[in-house]
Amino acid sequence: MTACITGATAGIGLAFAEELAQEGTDLVLVARDADRLGALAVRLGEAHGIDVEVLPADLATDAGCTVVMQRLADPDRPVDILVNNAGFGLNEDFVGGSLAAQERLLDVLVRATLRLTHAALPGMVARGQGMVLNVSSVAGWAPVGTYSAAKAWVTVFTEGLTPELAGTGVTATAVCPGFTRTEFHERADMSMTSVPDWAWLDARRVAREGLRAARSGQVISVPSTRYRTLAIALQHAPRGLLRRGVAAVPETRSDRA
Ligand SMILES: NC(=O)c1ccc[n+]([C@@H]2O[C@H](COP(=O)([O-])OP(=O)(O)OC[C@H]3O[C@@H](n4cnc5c(N)ncnc54)[C@H](OP(=O)(O)O)[C@@H]3O)[C@@H](O)[C@H]2O)c1
Repeated sequence: MTACITGATAGIGLAFAEELAQEGTDLVLVARDADRLGALAVRLGEAHGIDVEVLPADLATDAGCTVVMQRLADPDRPVDILVNNAGFGLNEDFVGGSLAAQERLLDVLVRATLRLTHAALPGMVARGQGMVLNVSSVAGWAPVGTYSAAKAWVTVFTEGLTPELAGTGVTATAVCPGFTRTEFHERADMSMTSVPDWAWLDARRVAREGLRAARSGQVISVPSTRYRTLAIALQHAPRGLLRRGVAAVPETRSDRA
């Protein structure tokens, strides 16, 4: 069994790598930082006796996506589990913000997810088994900038695959966490001091619940009862109310979860 995880060097991707390594799954790890990938591969390989391959790649680029797509489509080295997880947030308003940054966000969150899933699925379907987990966010149900819009795409894209995959032995699952302790907020220079302790999820828990959901054929996984409740509220609240709520709390305007 082999799993390919994007954004595997930190946070939720690292948690998926550790969970799957513990189960004895061989890994193909993707991120930009080659040194960090190499060190992780050695650590997980030695600790769990698994094969760990690294693919340093920037998924915001065509070249980076191509390297990973070619690996996923290689019939001689089948990948059974694909975790599209790599991502980042932006701490800026759309008006007056950087267009290049907005486009990079879409390239990594949307285009790379689309491309890698497209490369992986034909082999999985032909072999009659496989799982795609797309790390989305509860933010996909809230009107909060390009990040939210991208995560809405990830969730609906994943849901949209399921009728096509029915009866193939292959599943697609959107994992939609809330605030999770990772490098995400620090990398985007977001101050999170106003977020209370109870609101934070542990990355290992997100990965564990995501894998459990995927294995039971669940299409959308929202880890933790508190965020499942929030997700239901966000999906049923009048949209005008949500928009007014976001406008009233400026801290919620940047793309945070
Ligand atoms: N943390 C949260 O509160 C939260 C909540 C909901 C959803 N999420 C989602 O969870 C996913 C993982 O985020 P995280 O919180 O674990 O963040 P993180 O700790 O910052 O980790 C991000 C990972 O993605 C990789 N990455 C970033 N840009 C990349 C690129 N252009 N090409 C390839 N790899 C790239 C990073 O490695 P390199 O820098 O080496 O490339 C790193 O391994 C994201 O999709 C995020 O939107 C996070």
